[in-house]
Amino acid sequence: MSIALTRHEQAPAGEDAAIAEIVRIIKLKLREQFRVGQGNMRRDAHPKHHGAVRAELVVESDLPSELAVGVFSSARSYPAWVRFSNGSGTVQADHMRDGRGIAIKLMDVAGSKLMGDEAHTQDFLFINHDVFAVKDASDYVELFRIIERNGTPTQFFLSANPFKWHLKELANANKIRVQISNLLTLRYWTMTPYLMGGTPAKFSMRSQVLANTGAPPNSTPDYLREVMSQQLKRKGVAFDFMVQLQTDARHMPVEDPRIRWEPSMSPWRKVATLRIPMQTFDSPAQLQFAEDLSYSPWHSVPEHQPLGGVNRCRRIVYHAISEFRHAANGRNAFEPTGTEQF
Ligand code: HEM
Repeated sequence: MSIALTRHEQAPAGEDAAIAEIVRIIKLKLREQFRVGQGNMRRDAHPKHHGAVRAELVVESDLPSELAVGVFSSARSYPAWVRFSNGSGTVQADHMRDGRGIAIKLMDVAGSKLMGDEAHTQDFLFINHDVFAVKDASDYVELFRIIERNGTPTQFFLSANPFKWHLKELANANKIRVQISNLLTLRYWTMTPYLMGGTPAKFSMRSQVLANTGAPPNSTPDYLREVMSQQLKRKGVAFDFMVQLQTDARHMPVEDPRIRWEPSMSPWRKVATLRIPMQTFDSPAQLQFAEDLSYSPWHSVPEHQPLGGVNRCRRIVYHAISEFRHAANGRNAFEPTGTEQF
C-alpha cells in the first residue's frame, strides 16, 4: 500500500529503487549470517536485546491544543511493552561502543492505522543520540556498498575525494556509539521527524535520573541486562516523553535527519510519563517474546505519521525484514495485547 507524501516532504528521484536495494542487501546478509529454518535468525539492526519490560505511558492532563493530538489527545494511560537493545548488527559484549535503542509499543490505541499488520498499537523508536548518520535511502545504499566492498564504512566518510567526505555523518556515527553503565539512566531521541497533528515534530525519552559512568570494570558480556534486572527487582523507573515542534522548516528540516533541531529554536516539552514498574522480565519465555516482537515507526495512527526519506525507507524495510526473519524462524509475527503473562 502506498502512502501519500505529506505537504512537509519531497522524495528525491530514485528513492523507491534505493529502498528496494536496501531490502535486497539486508536479506542477502541475513541469509549469509543465519541458516534459514534453524530458528535463530535475528534482526539485522538492534539484534541484541536486553529484554522487553512491561510499562505504562501516562499522558499529561491539560496539554495545550498543539500538543493534545494523536495518542496524547486525552489524559489517559496506555499499557506498553518496551524493548531495550544494542544497535550493532553483530551481537557483541555490552562494553563495546555501540548505539543503544529503546522501542516502545503502546497498546489499546483506537482508530485507523498506517500499516495493515496491526490494529491497536502505536510504536515509538529511539536511539541514544539526537541526529542520524545518513541523509536518505541512497546514502544508506552507498554506505552498505562500501562496507560490503571494504569490510569497514571508513571510505563512506573519508573517500579519496575530499569533496565527497561525509564529515558530519562521521561525527554523528561516532557520537551514537558509546559505552554506558545503565540503560535506564539515558536520554533517547527519534532522530527523524513525525507528525504531531499538522506539525512536524521530533520525540525524545529522557530518564528522570540521568547518569552515565561508562562500562564498569570487569563487566560481564551481558551486564546491561543484569544491571536493569537488579534495578527493576528493587524499584521502578520513569522517563519523560518529550516533544519538539518544528517552528522553522529551513533550519529544522524534515528531509535531513543529520541536522539537529536546535532547542533554542523550539524547546522540548513534556507530554507524558513512561512508568516502568518494579518487575522481573528475564524468564526464557519473556526473552523469547522480546525476540519475536516487531516494532516499526509505521505502526502508527495517522496523527503521528513518520516523515522524511529515512522514515519512508523504514516503512518498507522493517515490515519486509520482520516478515523475513519470522518466516525463516518458522514463527508467527504478531502484535501483543498487553495481557501476556510469563
Ligand atoms: C534507513 C535507515 C534505517 C534502516 C534501513 C533501519 C533498519 C532497521 C531494521 C531492519 C531493524 C530490525 C527490524 C525487524 O527485524 O523487526 C531495525 C530496528 C531498529 N531500528 Fe532501525 N533502521 C534505520 C533507521 C533508524 C533510525 C533513524 C532509528 C532511530 C530511532 C532506528 C532505530 C531502531 C531501533 C530502536 C530498532 C530496534 C527495534 C526493536 O526493538 O525491535 N533505526 N532498524
